[in-house]
Amino acid sequence: MKIFSRLQLSAKILTIEEIKRKPVPIHVAIIMDGNGRWAAKRGLPRLAGHREGVKSLENAVRLCSDLGIKYLTAYSFSSENWKRPADEVLGLMELFFETVSAELEELMKNGVKIVLVGNRKTIPQKVLKKFEDTEIITKKNENLVLNIALNYGSRQEIIEAVKEACIEAKNNEIEIERIDDKYFSRLLFTKNSPDPDLLIRTSGEFRISNFLLWQIAYSELYFTETLWPDFKEEDFLKAIYSYQCRNRRFGKI
Ligand code: FPP
Repeated sequence: MKIFSRLQLSAKILTIEEIKRKPVPIHVAIIMDGNGRWAAKRGLPRLAGHREGVKSLENAVRLCSDLGIKYLTAYSFSSENWKRPADEVLGLMELFFETVSAELEELMKNGVKIVLVGNRKTIPQKVLKKFEDTEIITKKNENLVLNIALNYGSRQEIIEAVKEACIEAKNNEIEIERIDDKYFSRLLFTKNSPDPDLLIRTSGEFRISNFLLWQIAYSELYFTETLWPDFKEEDFLKAIYSYQCRNRRFGKI
């Protein structure tokens, strides 16, 4: 996908091509926050914010593809989001279903592989089937892995992994002394993705909200005031540029 874009950033004009000259993150994770506030500011129902948020996600997918980012993980529905009003939850489930159905052709064209990351046991059957069918259809795509975190909660994920490790230890499939971070990572929903290099959260909140707690141990964090539906190309490039200016040390000097 060819894009010509120019970005004004602290007296510097950057293009996608310029950003690509420096290493880009392999894996970007995003907490897509601020849909409700975006809608409220316009006197619209919250679902209108979520609908606009889908456009920002589509845009992020396109930019990952253009920049050569190989994994994108989008926090789409947390295990705590069930506590929202029933009409919003229902609307979101419909939106997930509709979007995945409508985007399948585009996903195939652009080599995007969909992976559902979350507790599958309590996702409504119709939505789960749509995602699982899409996982099968897109499984050979190699350009970008799009992890959709749905019914996802990091503490629950870790607890389930601990239980699994205990079972394997009890069945003598692993010696307790050999349980290390590599082994443990393979028990998480994200087992097929490397840890995120960059975590972005929109909407001016400075929280992690039970997202990828294990996986972000060494991720660079980027927070912006921009509400998710307003988070377009310029904001995405700014986040990547900020990442490129960091000095990642992983505990070394
Ligand atoms: C948080 O904003 C956003 C969500 C809970 C939903 C995000 C979902 C999408 C953008 C759709 C993704 C689509 C697919 C197909 C995966 P909020 O509602 O908490 O906003 P607020 O903090 O302003 O109220």
